[in-house]
Amino acid sequence: MKQSTALYVNGLSVNFGGFAALTNLTLEVPYGQTRAIIGANGAGKTTLMDVITGKTRPTSGEVFLDKTVDLAGLDEAAIARLGIGRKFQKPSVFENLPVQKNVELAVRKGRGFVAMLMSRLNAGQSQRVEEVLDTIGLAAERDRLAGTLSHGQKQWLEIGMLLAAEPRVLLLDEPVAGMSDEETARTVGLIKRLAAPQRAIVVVEHDMDFVSQVADLVTVLHEGQVLGEGSMDMVRRDPRVIQVYLGRG
Ligand SMILES: Nc1ncnc2c1ncn2[C@@H]1O[C@H](COP(=O)(O)OP(=O)(O)O)[C@@H](O)[C@H]1O
Ligand SMILES: [Mg+2]
Repeated sequence: MKQSTALYVNGLSVNFGGFAALTNLTLEVPYGQTRAIIGANGAGKTTLMDVITGKTRPTSGEVFLDKTVDLAGLDEAAIARLGIGRKFQKPSVFENLPVQKNVELAVRKGRGFVAMLMSRLNAGQSQRVEEVLDTIGLAAERDRLAGTLSHGQKQWLEIGMLLAAEPRVLLLDEPVAGMSDEETARTVGLIKRLAAPQRAIVVVEHDMDFVSQVADLVTVLHEGQVLGEGSMDMVRRDPRVIQVYLGRG
């Protein structure tokens, strides 16, 4: 069965002053898919995520969730409430709190303001905290202060905090940047556990081995435009992609 569309970006352009960061960009990400966006620095990858999450307004074009909800008219908080979660390049966890408390805060937040004020988690929330700790592989580290975690563990914790809200769309900007090889390999496993029929994942990454292991489909951006789209193997063999991106250094 063909999955329905989670994210629909249609003819999107973003200009900063006179500079075109994105030009007439169209892409569609279905539920159940992990999509990688690759391209050189400055290609417009982060700008695309900024538009999807309401941080940057399109100059023209459309961005829809489920092909029905027009995201261009909503602010960042409203877009987050719709179930679009984003991890930025730098992890931002509460360093002075234990790992488990970080996840608890995220679970409460996902349940609204009144629930967040309650001092104790209900049974469902406690269960969600355990599920998240298991998924991100940090159950054994639950009592450690987040500030003492390795860089990779902090990234997983932040992904866990996003997961608490059970996002329909998960946007990950360079999740393995700065990770050791072992942490990167573990992150492959994590992304595969995050994938679900009712979730779309969009991951921006420069590590092509990582991309080839997690992505169902790869979109190549070049100077704000789609240069190509296909499997990692197809994209790897595309002469234009090799010329402008993969062939360098
Ligand atoms: N707020 C902004 N104002 C002006 N230029 C910007 C802004 N954000 C990004 N840019 C420019 O847009 C281009 C795309 O940036 P970005 O989306 O961050 O690329 P990527 O994430 O692919 O490296 C770059 O040339 C960058 O300098
Ligand atoms: Mg970027």
